[in-house]
Amino acid sequence: RRCAKALEEHFERHAAETAALIVEPLVQCAGGMAMYDAEYLHRARELCDRFDVHLIADEIAVGFGRTGTLFACEQAGIAPDFLCLSKGLTGGYLPLSVVLATDRVYQAFYDDKLERGFLHSHSFSGNPLACRAALAVLDILEEEKVLERNRNTAATLNRRAEGLRSHRRVAHFRNTGMIWAFDVRQAKPGFSRDFYRRAVETGVLLRPLGATVYWMPPYVIGEAEIDFLLDTVTKLLEAGSESR
Ligand SMILES: Cc1ncc(COP(=O)(O)O)c(C=O)c1O
Repeated sequence: RRCAKALEEHFERHAAETAALIVEPLVQCAGGMAMYDAEYLHRARELCDRFDVHLIADEIAVGFGRTGTLFACEQAGIAPDFLCLSKGLTGGYLPLSVVLATDRVYQAFYDDKLERGFLHSHSFSGNPLACRAALAVLDILEEEKVLERNRNTAATLNRRAEGLRSHRRVAHFRNTGMIWAFDVRQAKPGFSRDFYRRAVETGVLLRPLGATVYWMPPYVIGEAEIDFLLDTVTKLLEAGSESR
């Protein structure tokens, strides 16, 4: 609510020169895996409507079930004016991204006159193979009830991570859907690179953001892999991996 209030104050001063607000719904990933309440999104939508500013939801990382619902925006009961999607759209198998826009935006650029029409295009737009991969992924998400299965996987991981959550070097352990993150206490300079290197040596691919370790595991992760991940991370924290 404090952040929504700050947004309101910003719009009061700058709405006239603001075309759009871009948000990563529920989890601001590269910005440090900051997880926030759906209430903020709800209020941001209201404020964008009130001040006539477009709302762009970048769901490239959080879309397709990552936060527990197919799209993160659903948890706030809102729809953006633009929705950016990629990654999970093809299950990561082929490169494909899309930007969806409301009919209102689409119609504003749908015109026979060149000067009004939106003539932007990409060399690889509508790649048939990538689109076919996306269709297959969408079928699998539905047929194999992946979102439902993820709820069980997330519950299992949370249960087994109890020990790690209370580890003396772990602060601010957080989870949204199939995303986990925590901050490492007493992380020395070079922590991220060192932790990455040591983890990869054991067969776990982790890329901490500064002193923030995060997991966005593939939805097919099984119990043995969850245990392996948790064991590896606990051992690395115990070993004070960043001290070398
Ligand atoms: C939230 C978010 N937005 C945008 C991008 C960039 O997407 P692309 O690689 O399709 O340009 C990424 C990629 O990591 C991302 O995580």
